[in-house]
Amino acid sequence: MSEIVLLFLLSPAILALFLLWNSTKKKRKPPLKIPPGNMGWPLIGETIPYLKPHFATSMGEFMEQHISRFGKIYSSNLFGEPTIVSADPELNRFILQNEGGLFECSYPRNVRRILGEWSMLVVVGDLHREMRMIALNFMSHARIRRHLLREVERHTLLVLSSWEDNSTFSAQEEAKKFTFNLMAKYIMNMDPSKAETKQLKREYITFMKGMISAPLNFPGTAYRKALKSRSCILRFIEQKMEERRSGTSDECQKVEEDDLLGWVSKQPNLSTEQILDLILSLLFAGHETSSVAIAFVIYFLESCPKAVQQLQEEHLEIARIKKQAGECELSWKDYKQMEFTQCVINETLRLANIVRFVHRRAIRDVHFKGYDIPCGWKVLPVFAAVHLDPSLFHNPQEFNPWRWQTGSSNVTMTSNFMPFAGGPRLCAGFEFAKLEIAVFVHHLVLNYRWELAEPDHAIAFPFVHFTKGLPIRVHTLTKHK
Ligand code: HEM
Repeated sequence: MSEIVLLFLLSPAILALFLLWNSTKKKRKPPLKIPPGNMGWPLIGETIPYLKPHFATSMGEFMEQHISRFGKIYSSNLFGEPTIVSADPELNRFILQNEGGLFECSYPRNVRRILGEWSMLVVVGDLHREMRMIALNFMSHARIRRHLLREVERHTLLVLSSWEDNSTFSAQEEAKKFTFNLMAKYIMNMDPSKAETKQLKREYITFMKGMISAPLNFPGTAYRKALKSRSCILRFIEQKMEERRSGTSDECQKVEEDDLLGWVSKQPNLSTEQILDLILSLLFAGHETSSVAIAFVIYFLESCPKAVQQLQEEHLEIARIKKQAGECELSWKDYKQMEFTQCVINETLRLANIVRFVHRRAIRDVHFKGYDIPCGWKVLPVFAAVHLDPSLFHNPQEFNPWRWQTGSSNVTMTSNFMPFAGGPRLCAGFEFAKLEIAVFVHHLVLNYRWELAEPDHAIAFPFVHFTKGLPIRVHTLTKHK
């Protein structure tokens, strides 16, 4: 009898629970359709096979296997987080163009600590926009034409004139010397021959080693040394700023407007810490990338004599016209004549994939091509996988600059080509980078012939570099008439 009373008393509660369950069941969202994939091991996921060194001109075994198994959009666990990897050009464009709205730049913690919390590659939102404007204004078209072109040519000649006939050296080191000295001059008006520039370069090399090392902050580790070098470099930049402010620098009046330090120091909204990280990130972004691109141009051209010959014809013609006009420095007009050179640059960037992918995070739930990307997940648009996709680039492993010639290059090819990323974070120095490479090529093909002194190849680990430093032997050409 008591059970019946109890049931009678509880029945409204049971009914209410049933109705609640039924209504939540109706409202419950359908299960998310995460792209297929493999989450790998707990914590480390698939990070180790993803980063495994591979030939820079390939997309790597990991990417190839995952794409053939799961398709161009797949899920994984990378850098300790659930991740969507994209080798799909449309998704890559969508991610880059929706920066700030659906996705946000999100580099791993060790990169953030080394580059700094205020680095342009790390900050988001309004501060990013403000810093980007400063960098873009400094590298404006007008400034590139007026100041930077001259500096680029001067530094090219400085490096190339040190190459003796029949000598052998590391082309990668020479390219690094060129871009480092140029950036040091451009950022802080530093002279390459001075001891302080050489000291800064030594610190910078240690700093870079930390970027590619495990983030283990113990005495003796590359990471700890890199953090120390970071502090040294920042102290150095700060000292330069102080000298400018107090007027103790002998060149302070003259360079006020000409270098980045003078330029950013006048920005009222930036703190000293922000200025220091901004300068350091520009040194990093501008030096590492262009030097590798130049080393690759030297590497690819060495095995493509037809392209060297066509380049020589293009540059001899420019040199001939200049001579007739009695001009000696390259002008913007000359640069614009370097059409085949631009094809060589594009093809080098496509095949070398210097920046292979970028780090992003979904800041909202995103639905794309039938898949769900949950808010908070890491997202990696992999440009290398698109640039080496045979359905988008015919015979993608082949170095073929002619594919970029007007008439032969098609819209699909150019819209899938993203060596400088895109959207609101498109590389701020892309014009400058192309100019550096073109001017270097101009003087290179007019003055030298070269061959590999021993076989070498480039690997991606995770930054792209030549394993032996790209040793070349150069031969001076008799002066062009
Ligand atoms: C071949 C050479 C270069 C390549 C392949 C390259 C590539 C890239 C890529 C892919 C990004 C986007 C990073 C991201 O979205 O997370 C980027 C950003 C950037 N690059 Fe470059 N870059 C090159 C040269 C340069 C040079 C010479 C400079 C400066 C002198 C420079 C300055 C920057 C800056 C400041 C950013 C950050 C832009 C922003 O966040 O708004 N880069 N670069």
